[in-house]
Amino acid sequence: MSTSLLSSGIISSICLISVLLFGTGCSVRYTPDWTSLDARPLPPWFDEAKIGIFVHWGVFSVPGYGQFSEWLWCWWKNKKRLDIVDFMRKNYPPGFKYADFAPQFRAEFFNPADWADIFAASGARYVVFTSKHHEGFTNWPSATSWNWNSVDVGPHRDLVGELGAAVRKRSLHWGLYHSFYEWFHPLYLSDQASGYKTQDFVALKALPELYDLVMRYKPELIWSDGDWEAPDSYWNSTQFLAWLYNDSPVKDVVVVNDRWGKGCYCKHGGYYNCADRYTPGKLPDHKWEKCQSIDKRSWGYRRNMKLSETMDLPSIIKDMMYVVALGGNYLLNIGPMSDGMIAPVFEERLRGLGAWLKVNGEAIYSTKPWRVQTENSTVSVWYTSKNSTVYAVILSWPSKLLFQLLTPKTSETTKVTLLDYPDLPLKWAPAAETTGLQILMPAMPVSHGNAWTLKLEGVV
Ligand SMILES: *[C@@H]1O[C@H](CO)[C@@H](O)[C@H](O)[C@H]1NC(C)=O
Ligand SMILES: *[C@@H]1O[C@H](CO)[C@@H](O)[C@H](O)[C@H]1NC(C)=O
Ligand SMILES: *[C@@H]1O[C@H](CO)[C@@H](O)[C@H](O)[C@H]1NC(C)=O
Repeated sequence: MSTSLLSSGIISSICLISVLLFGTGCSVRYTPDWTSLDARPLPPWFDEAKIGIFVHWGVFSVPGYGQFSEWLWCWWKNKKRLDIVDFMRKNYPPGFKYADFAPQFRAEFFNPADWADIFAASGARYVVFTSKHHEGFTNWPSATSWNWNSVDVGPHRDLVGELGAAVRKRSLHWGLYHSFYEWFHPLYLSDQASGYKTQDFVALKALPELYDLVMRYKPELIWSDGDWEAPDSYWNSTQFLAWLYNDSPVKDVVVVNDRWGKGCYCKHGGYYNCADRYTPGKLPDHKWEKCQSIDKRSWGYRRNMKLSETMDLPSIIKDMMYVVALGGNYLLNIGPMSDGMIAPVFEERLRGLGAWLKVNGEAIYSTKPWRVQTENSTVSVWYTSKNSTVYAVILSWPSKLLFQLLTPKTSETTKVTLLDYPDLPLKWAPAAETTGLQILMPAMPVSHGNAWTLKLEGVV
């Protein structure tokens, strides 16, 4: 057992004793060091939720160009990508600056209720929205981002506040993405030049904005990013997290990821993102999340996106099943357009996911990994479990009427149903000579996701 599990066990026992003796719950105080912070138990809503929607929106949505469109400014200015340098030269007048895109970020069709309806219809249980990406433009009226925020320029609206209210109205959890570093902020650049010995950017920009976000919008999740150039001691991450867990208005519910300074990810913080699109080969021993964009080439919107570059619904469900079976959460990204519309292709994918989850959600929400995560029968199978029930999600329809699962051990009380037909128990028989069972499959129900769930009761 790792020391962090051990100490979180001790902390939970202290909490329990405190409830029993004094009826007051838990008053553990975290100290600003990783040993203490890492021992905090993750608020349970996050693991139960399983599915979130990630939203990348900012000034980068205006040019909306090229692979990882949200990085355009950096790659243009540093001449790191010649296609972007070319694109800018051909399409914008000499002297055009990145800041000139901001007034064109108009969001004239932005209706937070429409977005929140789509997110709720997707079956997701939380939303993570870019409050500020590496370009530094804040999607709320930050007092320390003068003339580079969504109220002073562009939409002239508090995007974080408006979307947050709409999302919460639909009972989804509200999370904020926040980039520590800003590519071209003068204070950041001077701290960088000092080898991160000075902390002016942190004192005057990064930390005031983080505290402001928490106090104003009370996010239940902070998705930290842009941390990797400097150590956590530069960002004062542990001091911030100790305040967040001890004294902030969201201390009991807030969940954070693991990007809190160079070398932190996959090691410290709340749940682990590790690198982008982290793809563990076997069951990790720590709660994790995979983020994945429907546009396979970008987080931010690309005006030059092609249909063939997007994930279709079966590939989204396949990716999600892999993640959930391995104990992760799946954070599916869309990049809205600068005018405030969500491209219909993204909306269609999200609504399709929701339709699939309406039938199969029992195999996803609040599940735990089973003793085996996957097997290759005649089709590929991903397992999840809830209490004594086991779910086998199959990623195509078997070609034969008799379908064999290889791993479950049956008993006299074994019952098999397809979630599409909950009232119709299926005939089954133990597999001859091996573990597993043969199931007599019914007629194939329609599934736009090309995936179905066999619910197995009374198996081990
Ligand atoms: C970071 O934390 C240290 C130790 O508590 C403190 O001395 C320093 O002032 C903090 N820096 C900022 C920018 O908050
Ligand atoms: C199932 O098959 C895939 C593709 O051939 C392979 O990558 C994977 O390792 C197999 N999984 C198991 C559990 O055998
Ligand atoms: C299933 O397990 C959860 C905890 O994992 C528990 O809260 C719940 O009551 C259980 N449900 C049933 C029907 O046993």
